[in-house]
Amino acid sequence: ADPAGGQAYGKRSGCVMASNHPIGVFDSGVGGLTAVKELRALLPHEDIVYFGDTSRAPYGNRSRDTILRYARQDVNFLLSQKVKMIIAACGTVSSVAASMGQSLPVPFTGVVTPTCRAAVKATKNKRIGVIATAATIDSGSYRKELNALHPEIQVFEQPCPLFVPLVENAFIDPGDQVTNLVAQRYLSGLRGAGVDTLILGCTHYPIISAIISKAMGDQVTLIDSGRETAVYAARLLKDQQLLASGGQEGRNAFYVSDSVDGFNQIADIFLGREMNHSACRINIEEY
Ligand code: DGL
Repeated sequence: ADPAGGQAYGKRSGCVMASNHPIGVFDSGVGGLTAVKELRALLPHEDIVYFGDTSRAPYGNRSRDTILRYARQDVNFLLSQKVKMIIAACGTVSSVAASMGQSLPVPFTGVVTPTCRAAVKATKNKRIGVIATAATIDSGSYRKELNALHPEIQVFEQPCPLFVPLVENAFIDPGDQVTNLVAQRYLSGLRGAGVDTLILGCTHYPIISAIISKAMGDQVTLIDSGRETAVYAARLLKDQQLLASGGQEGRNAFYVSDSVDGFNQIADIFLGREMNHSACRINIEEY
């Protein structure tokens, strides 16, 4: 099985999808907004439906069974919105529930394959660092994929469990003292290991990329899983002739499973106020 679930299933017979249907993106919380931001820039005419499972985030320290159950419900919600493609914009789901893409009626991608391909292209010294949630690091998904792409690459991994709650609670200003301190503590080992490329293997992390970059030093290239996945998804849609044909601006719909206030606050900072991102709350247990 493809560890990222990066296969395309769009041409399966019996699927109901059309190029004017929205792209579905989900994450445990706000992290997937990093993919939405990039998708919006790459594909301005596409409608996007986003679901952030804010009432059950974080996923990254939960068991495999729980992550699988949550991911299935997230996907069911997006399918109910008649999406033409699903992006698991969550490193944890992409690592733990990778094979779920095989049974979906629409094209699916996680973040692991797109991100690893970009990292292999970027590295010069073949030393790549991976930071992600504990569940992602435990799964070995990035390491396996990197070594499958290039057996000589040395992979250095570090779980960073405090980053997600810091991001979810908007401790994201580049000068934030707490987040800078946590970053230095987590990243000093990777810096010492001499990696020239660092995979932000959790989609929450690009939101604090300025802080991570400061802790790693300018010479280290950061690979943003949200961005690389958006590029990969755009190519997949093009190959499957599923790009929206209309010339009008794409619409966004945001759904969360907890109070909309915290989400709107981060979305404001991260996506900018010019993008309408007011969210609706749904009961994900119904899916
Ligand atoms: N967005 C998730 C990921 O990329 C991190 C948050 C979580 O642990 O749920 O792994």
